[in-house]
Amino acid sequence: MNRRFFFATILVFCLLLSCREAAPTQTENTPIDTITDDATSTLAYQDASLSPAERADDLLSRMTLAEKIGQMTLVEKNSLGNGAIGEWGLGALLSGGGGYFQPNTAESWAKNIRAYQDEALSTRLGIPLLYGSDAVHGHGNLKGAVIFPHNIGLGATHDADLLERIGQVTAVETAVSGVNWNFAPVLAVPQDIRWGRTYEAYSENTAVVTKLATAYLRGLQGDDLASSETVLATPKHFVGDGGTAWGSSTTALFMDKQYVYQIDQGVTEVDEETLRTVHLSPYQAAIDAGARSIMVSFSSWGGMKMHAQRYLLTDVLKGEMGFTGFVVSDWAGIDQISDDYEAAVVTAVNAGIDMNMVPTDYNRFINILTKAVENGDVPQERIDDAVRRILTVKFEMGLFENPSPDDNFFEQVGSADHRALAREAVSKSVVLLKNDGHIVPLPKDAQRIFVAGKAADDIGIQSGGWTIEWQGAIGNISNGTTILEGIEQAVGAETAVTYNSFGKFDRITDDNGNLAIADYGIVVVGETPYAEGLGDQADLSLSEADLTVIERVRERSEKLVVLIVSGRPLIITEPLRDWDAALAVWLPGTEANGIADVLFGDVSFQGILPFTWPRTMSQLPFDFNNMPSRGCGAALFPFGYGLSTDSMETAVLCPPDQ
Ligand code: BGC
Ligand code: BGC
Repeated sequence: MNRRFFFATILVFCLLLSCREAAPTQTENTPIDTITDDATSTLAYQDASLSPAERADDLLSRMTLAEKIGQMTLVEKNSLGNGAIGEWGLGALLSGGGGYFQPNTAESWAKNIRAYQDEALSTRLGIPLLYGSDAVHGHGNLKGAVIFPHNIGLGATHDADLLERIGQVTAVETAVSGVNWNFAPVLAVPQDIRWGRTYEAYSENTAVVTKLATAYLRGLQGDDLASSETVLATPKHFVGDGGTAWGSSTTALFMDKQYVYQIDQGVTEVDEETLRTVHLSPYQAAIDAGARSIMVSFSSWGGMKMHAQRYLLTDVLKGEMGFTGFVVSDWAGIDQISDDYEAAVVTAVNAGIDMNMVPTDYNRFINILTKAVENGDVPQERIDDAVRRILTVKFEMGLFENPSPDDNFFEQVGSADHRALAREAVSKSVVLLKNDGHIVPLPKDAQRIFVAGKAADDIGIQSGGWTIEWQGAIGNISNGTTILEGIEQAVGAETAVTYNSFGKFDRITDDNGNLAIADYGIVVVGETPYAEGLGDQADLSLSEADLTVIERVRERSEKLVVLIVSGRPLIITEPLRDWDAALAVWLPGTEANGIADVLFGDVSFQGILPFTWPRTMSQLPFDFNNMPSRGCGAALFPFGYGLSTDSMETAVLCPPDQ
């Protein structure tokens, strides 16, 4: 159905029926069935010529407590009961990591979310839904969407204009599918790369995070939140998520304690001044750039879970920093405050959380919060403040005028233009770490190239976590170009490219029947996908399996180039000695031909390290303020390091454990 026609129908329907009940002079506890109405014209909140604040005030004045608490409730879509949106007056839904629709196409996302919106619009007041998802590197849950490099790679580009364009494209691909709210950007400033969320962050450096995150946020939100091509951004996770200490986490993902987090969701053990300068300052920039929702961190500070921090959430964020948007919890983050759920809810809402990402047991949350308001544990004014904030943002987003996306632009998802942008981002993100004998750029007319390694020909591995599944997945999980395919496309017709994941080329012989030696061996090694605390890692050494593949290819190639696919620096100090060239390619996403673009010299290297690269695990966590800049106590590669193909620099190699 045409969008305007659809909306006009809703409006007429609303005027004829439901809005008759909706313009009462209602006091807080008026039961819904006693509300009467004499309005015959458009209600103030439906009048798009009024400001979002005026409309929110009007709408708030018409709402029952139940309707207000419904607006504060964010539910994961797979937990929704039939008719629950209407029954509970839910205000927001989300797709968590891996929360896609079947079939996993933009059309089916849009159709399903439109049905949810229709259910919300048919409630007494017809308040549209926010629908959120983690489009943290493109619309990762949607098959066929373009997947950009994870933020660590974008940090290496140090290119704010690029980030803004990526934000625009991500907004379009997300909005087309019906998602109007993106849980991004991550503003974390990771201080310890053993953290499983390091790759979700741009840099260990606050200034880099601030510059790139605000550019991306401007891209997502554009000049007009109400445009059908923009989405609401959510800087996260407030605050100090990147500053937690190894071993301080108390989160065990599964009841059987199969996975115990080490650093993710742990304790940020810094004083307030450090918290403010290192971790908080990007939020001020994000607010100034127009952030209207902010997500709370699972971590703790000052002996208290962030979800319970009235001082930081209300006094600092909403008071001192002037944040007038709404604060949303993280996934069951409120539950972590206390084993007593009622106490947890009271504490969190009073601390300043406006919306609860419940995400599953919404009737429990709604019943408990209702009781807490009725018995005075949560003041009515706190509820009104929370709901006013949420509604104001919904009005700013134009959701009442245009609750569902235009349905005719699906071809934009994964379009050639969008993929070209991702390819550009990939080429700018690659960091040249070593280039002995200036072998890179490689010639396009070499006779023979061997390519090996598990990450060379795998869309899933090169995309990392938060791709189709929460944890990501190995294999052919979406459309795109693998690193191997990029190499094959880059070389001339005369070059024989042979691929074997394990580096076994025993059957490849030269014209004389001897084992063939390649001009170049390219081995692509590194990490396999993970997300959040499941990626907390005490040992970042290259695996034995990877080292074996590198060894095999070393023996069969004149020159050896190693590409590291990873969400953070890995320990490569010793093996690096034997490599002629090394490239950090991070988690490039679906358009890995951007790697061949720099490797074969079509584009020059511009990537520089957004994180300090350790020499040994024993250097972690870095004491950034007291690190030697030279010698063996220094990092293997410092922050900001990156060669160009004509640099004369080489890395300082030291014996292990010094
Ligand atoms: C993560 C958030 C994410 C949320 C919804 C949480 O586990 O910490 O970053 O936005 O899930 O998927
Ligand atoms: C969801 C993620 C969420 C995580 C939290 C997963 O099941 O898919 O979105 O972040 O749980 O633990």
